[in-house]
Amino acid sequence: MRVLVVGASGAIGTWLVPQLIDHGHEVIGTCRSPEKKERLREQGAEPVVLDALNSRAVRETVAGAEPEAIIHQATALSDIRFGRNFDRTFAQTNRLRTEGTDNLLAGAHEIGVPRFVAQSFASMRNERKGGMVKTEDDPLDPDPPATMREGHAAMRHLEQAVTEAGGIALRYGGFYGADNDGLVDPVRKRRFPIVGDGGGYVSWIHLEDAAAATVLALEHEGPEIYNIVDDEPAPVREWLPALADALEAKPPRRIPVWLARLVAGDVAVLMGTGARGASNAKAKRELGWSLHYPSWRQGFVEVYSGRRPGTRIPEPALSGSGRHQQSSR
Ligand SMILES: NC(=O)c1ccc[n+]([C@@H]2O[C@H](COP(=O)([O-])OP(=O)(O)OC[C@H]3O[C@@H](n4cnc5c(N)ncnc54)[C@H](OP(=O)(O)O)[C@@H]3O)[C@@H](O)[C@H]2O)c1
Repeated sequence: MRVLVVGASGAIGTWLVPQLIDHGHEVIGTCRSPEKKERLREQGAEPVVLDALNSRAVRETVAGAEPEAIIHQATALSDIRFGRNFDRTFAQTNRLRTEGTDNLLAGAHEIGVPRFVAQSFASMRNERKGGMVKTEDDPLDPDPPATMREGHAAMRHLEQAVTEAGGIALRYGGFYGADNDGLVDPVRKRRFPIVGDGGGYVSWIHLEDAAAATVLALEHEGPEIYNIVDDEPAPVREWLPALADALEAKPPRRIPVWLARLVAGDVAVLMGTGARGASNAKAKRELGWSLHYPSWRQGFVEVYSGRRPGTRIPEPALSGSGRHQQSSR
C-alpha cells in the first residue's frame, strides 16, 4: 500500500516507518523541517514537509501523495514541561487532534483515500468507577479534571471523526523506548513521587510494539477503536519503583494526596490514585497482535538499565532487519 505517515519523524513514526517498509508498504513520511527529511529518506521513506494545521497544505500534500492510507501520528510533545495545567501543555497537540485530524480527513475524502489510522491515548481517559482495567467499550470519564477537559474533548473528537469516516483510532499506552523520553529525568531526580497509596493505574507500551500494532491496524477494516497497551496495566506504586530501579536512581518519594493536589494539581492526584489501565484483549484478538515486550517489567529493564545520564536509547533498526516482520506476526 502507498501510505502517508503524518508525523513520521516523531517517537512512534521513527519505529513505524521501517516496519511499514518491511511489510512491503511504500511510505511517504512528513516532518516539519527540511533538516529532518534526510533521516526519513535514510529509513526508506519519501520525505515531505507538512504543517498539519495548514488545511491547504494538507489538501495539496494528500492529493500529491495519492496515498491508499493515511496514518496520523502528529503530536507536539517534544520538550514540553508538565505543569499543573495539562490543557496548556497539550494545547498544540489538542489542535493537531482536532483541526489536524479534520484537515487530514478532508484531504482524504477529497481524493477518496480508503484507509485512515490515527493516534489517540488510553491512560487517564476512563470513568473512575469499578474495575481498574478498562476495555474500549467502557465509559470515558464524564467529568475529567478541569485542567485536562480540552485534552479529553480533543481525543473524543479525533476518535469520533476518524471512526465516522470508517477509520481506526489507536489508544496507545504510555510510550517508552523514545530517545527523548520525558520520564527519565524526573524519575532520576526523584521529582516523580508516589501520591497517596499509589493505586492509580497506567498502561505502558514499548514503541516497537506500538508500531507493530499500527501496521496490523492499517491492514484491518475500520471503523474501530483499539487499546494498544501491554499485558500488564499496573499501579504507580509498582511500576514507578521498578523504573527508578532500572535507572539505578533512588526510590521515588511518597507524598500525601493533599500535598500533591496543592503542589501539582488534580491531574497528578488522578494519575497517582484514580486512573484506570486499559485491556489489550481486543487488539490481540482482532489484529492478531503479539508483543515483543508483553510487560513493562521486562521492557523497563531492557530499555533503561545501564542507561547513564546523557546517553541515547538505541534507535530502531533500519528496514530489512527482519525483526519487524517477526514482532507483528
Ligand atoms: N502515548 C504516549 O505516551 C505518547 C504519545 C506521543 C508522544 N509521546 C512522547 O512525547 C515525546 C515527544 O514525542 P515525539 O518525539 O513524537 O515529538 P512530537 O513533538 O510530539 O512530534 C511527533 C510528530 O509530529 C510532528 N508534528 C508536530 N507538529 C506538527 C504539525 N503542526 N504538523 C505536522 N506534524 C507535526 C513532528 O514533526 P517534527 O519531528 O518535524 O517536529 C513529529 O513527526 C516522546 O518522548 C514520546 O514518547 C508519548
